[in-house]
Amino acid sequence: MKQSEFKKRRKKLIQHIGKGAIALIGSASIKIRNRDVDYPFRQDSDFYYLTGFNEPDALAVFIPERKEGEYVLFCREFDEKKAIWEGAHAGLEGAKADYDADEAFSIEDLNKMLPGFLENKAKVFYPIGRDSELDNKLLAWINNIKNRSRSGVTAPSELHSLDLILHEMRLFKSDKELKLMRHAAEVSAAAHVKAMQACKAGLFEYQIEAELIHHFIQNGLRAVAYPSIVAGGKNACTLHYTENNSTLKSGDLLLIDAGAECDHYAADITRTFPISGRFSEPQKQLYQLVLDAQAAALEQIQPGLPWNQAHDASVEVLTKGLVELGLLKGKLKKLIKDEKYKPFYMHRIGHWLGMDVHDVGDYKVNQEWRLLEAGMVLTVEPGLYIPADCKTVDEKWRGIGIRIEDDVLVTPQGHEILTGGVPKSISEIEALMQAI
Ligand code: GLY
Ligand code: MN
Ligand code: MN
Repeated sequence: MKQSEFKKRRKKLIQHIGKGAIALIGSASIKIRNRDVDYPFRQDSDFYYLTGFNEPDALAVFIPERKEGEYVLFCREFDEKKAIWEGAHAGLEGAKADYDADEAFSIEDLNKMLPGFLENKAKVFYPIGRDSELDNKLLAWINNIKNRSRSGVTAPSELHSLDLILHEMRLFKSDKELKLMRHAAEVSAAAHVKAMQACKAGLFEYQIEAELIHHFIQNGLRAVAYPSIVAGGKNACTLHYTENNSTLKSGDLLLIDAGAECDHYAADITRTFPISGRFSEPQKQLYQLVLDAQAAALEQIQPGLPWNQAHDASVEVLTKGLVELGLLKGKLKKLIKDEKYKPFYMHRIGHWLGMDVHDVGDYKVNQEWRLLEAGMVLTVEPGLYIPADCKTVDEKWRGIGIRIEDDVLVTPQGHEILTGGVPKSISEIEALMQAI
């Protein structure tokens, strides 16, 4: 992503917060995995969204109409020794030259300098409560100013949530963001195809996970958007199963929920398919039901329709189907009202998708489900999970877990599926798996 895109976002944010206010946002920090080994660094999505700066120990400050420049970046100073051990980092000069900061200061000088920036500002916008260290520091800086009030300086009196503004911005994806999301979606879809082709009984789930990751990395996407779920048989009934260490059995289904990240933008795809390459009759019936529920939900993804309508459509199709197949008994309306489907469909239809896999943005506005608008991206992922020990249903259904998940862009005309590159109809899946 070019700096011009980040610049546009900063400009919009600065307009929002207005004169007399200041906004602060900190970077992610390095987390220790064990002793001298760190977890791979992943920048905070909000911070990256505004700066494109991919280093820890940084804080961005935005001050509308400041003479010396509206964007100040505190970051690590360039350190020759660090460069030898850990590689390139921007330093103060790089922060200005490569990341368009109007001014850059050492992060070591934060406590010394921030009170000066906050002086005589009425409002502070920042991610309240996200980072207790920043919360505490901010209060200390404000107290520092208050203690000097006799010299005529005033301390900010209003703390505002930066999230409200920023997350509303992030909810609507620009063309540049969509390009990255499309790429993440395409590579991830192709990885799912590879996984279907590689699947055979006797392999461990992690060997299929290896196929997925191999494809992501071979295509330059070196991070997964979330830990891959590769769940054979009844493991699929554990929604966020990530142990991935069981052996695949011939008569079982395999549920894979995996997606790569492309320059901080996620894909999130689930497919469920038979390990043998052919669905059994009960598997086919439940699978088709989930697929029908997804189709019904997708019809509700259009601008102007409330967010929850897709969920309601999926509930109706699934509940009706469960009655027809004999897993539920009773009148459709009452079963829905009493949420009798919930033991088998316990999650919602999906979530916003973007820099975070469960992306930011409100689902309700003024207590009402928000209406879909062009530029939003979301997942549509109905599922059915019949616990292995469920005594109320016929044995043939037990231990089957199915989810079908696609990434969907709301367009002015309706929607576009970004993850169509991996098959999901029974005939397409069986054809693909038998072609090898
Ligand atoms: N991969 C997590 C989810 O589908 O929400
Ligand atoms: Mn998923
Ligand atoms: Mn999802």
